Amino acid sequence: MSKLIIEGRRKLSGKIEVQGAKNSALPILAATLLTGDSSVIHNCPDLSDVDSTLDILRYVGCYVKQDGDTVFVDSKCADKSDIPDELMRAMRSSIIFLGPLIARFGSARLTYPGGCELGPRPIDLHLMALRLLGVEITEQHGVIECRAPQGLHGAKISLSFPSVGATENIMLAACVAEGTTIITNAAREPEICDLADCLNSFGARISGAGEGTVIIDGAERLSGSMHTIIPDRIAAASYMAAAAATGGRVLIDRIVPSHLNSVIPIFEESGCTVKQKGNSILIDAPNRLHAVNFIRTMPFPGFPTDAQPPIMAMLTTAKGTGIIVENIFENRYKHVCGLERMGAKIHLEGKVAVVEGVPELYGARVAAPDLRGGAALVVAGLCANGRTEINGINFIDRGYENIELKLSEVGASIKRL
Ligand code: EPZ
Repeated sequence: MSKLIIEGRRKLSGKIEVQGAKNSALPILAATLLTGDSSVIHNCPDLSDVDSTLDILRYVGCYVKQDGDTVFVDSKCADKSDIPDELMRAMRSSIIFLGPLIARFGSARLTYPGGCELGPRPIDLHLMALRLLGVEITEQHGVIECRAPQGLHGAKISLSFPSVGATENIMLAACVAEGTTIITNAAREPEICDLADCLNSFGARISGAGEGTVIIDGAERLSGSMHTIIPDRIAAASYMAAAAATGGRVLIDRIVPSHLNSVIPIFEESGCTVKQKGNSILIDAPNRLHAVNFIRTMPFPGFPTDAQPPIMAMLTTAKGTGIIVENIFENRYKHVCGLERMGAKIHLEGKVAVVEGVPELYGARVAAPDLRGGAALVVAGLCANGRTEINGINFIDRGYENIELKLSEVGASIKRL
C-alpha cells in the first residue's frame, strides 16, 4: 500500500494548474451512454474514480480510449444494463449510471453503491424521482432492479433536499423521456450546469440548470459531441488551503474564480490576500493565519462540504478559535483524529467542530479516512514540524491528480513511497 511522506514547514510558492472537475467528469462520462454515438470529452482528470467510471462504460459495451486528458467514448455497441457488484463498490458515484442505463435500455440492475463512508449515503431521492418518471423499482438483498416497460415520461419532481446526484440522475433520465420534466429544489452546483451544457451539446433541451428549477424537454434521441469539463473547484480550494497553511504565495491557475465565491471570503477572513486574475487566483498568506469565526457547509452557492476538511486543517494552527458546522454529511469529521495525532485541538459535538488554534502541529504517522479527509492530512503535513507519513492514499488518488507532483512543483517536500 503506497503512502505519502511529507517534511513540513516549507512555504509554498509558484503556480499550480488545477485539474478538470471530478464531480463533473463522472456524470458526463455516464451521459455518453445516452447517445449511442461517439463523444470526445476534454480536460478529464487522471483519477481512480475516472478509471472506475471508464471500466463501467467498457463493461456495458462502450469503446473507450484515453489520450492524456481527452477521453473518447463510442457507446454505439453498448448492450448491457447491469453493473456487477465489484464495479459498483469501486466508488459511490456509480449510482449516476442508473438514469442513463434506464434511458438507453429501459432497464437497469445495480447493487447499492460503495465509496467514501461519510455517513449513510441514501439514494431515496434518486429512486423517488425515477419512479415519478415511470420506472418500476424493486430493491432486495442489496440489488436495485429497474424496469420502464412503458418507457420514461416527463414529471414534476420536487426534491426535499437539493441532492447533486439525484438532480443529475433525473436530468440524465429525463432528457430522452416523453414530455417535459420539471425539477424544483434542484441542486445548483457548477457541475450541474456543466452536465446540462454537455447534454444540450448532445441535443438535449435543458434550461434553468444552476437555478432552483430545472426544465427538461424530452428529446427524440441524442447524438455524440465534444465537451470540455470545467475546472475542479474543490481541488482549487484544497491547494489554496495548502498555500495558506504554509504562509505561502501561490497562483492557482486554470480555474473559474466565481465557483469559489463562498470560499474566498474564508481565506480573506483568515488573513490571506486573494487576487482574482482572469482564470486564476493569487493567494498570499501571512506567517500565521487568524481563526475564522464561523463556517457552515451548505448546498451551492453556500460553502462546499468537500472543502471543509482541508480548510479545517489549515485552521488548526490559526490564532484563535473558530467553529465549523457540517450540515451536509453526518460523518464528515473522520480526519479529526489524524489532525489531533498531529497536535490539533478540535472539539466535536455532533455537526459542530470547535477548532482551537495551536502554535504548531508536529509530524506523525496518520491514515487517510476518506478522500477529502486525506487532503486535510496533506495540508496538515505541509505545515507540521517534522515528518508526516500518510497511509491509505488510494482515497486521495480518487480525487486529486498527481497531488505530490503538483505540490513538489511549488516547493513542498512530499514523495510517494
Ligand atoms: C456529490 O455527492 C459529490 N459527489 C460529493 O463529493 C459532494 O460532497 C456532494 O455532492 C455534495 O455537494 C459527486 O458529485 C460524485 P448529495 P452526492 O446527493 O450526489 C443526502 C467528493 O468528495 N441524500 O447532494 O452523493 C445525503 O445523505 C464527494 O468529491 C439523501 O438523503 O451528494 C447527503 O447527506 C463527497 N437522499 C446529502 O443528501 C438521496 O437520495 C448530500 O448528498 C441523496 C442524497
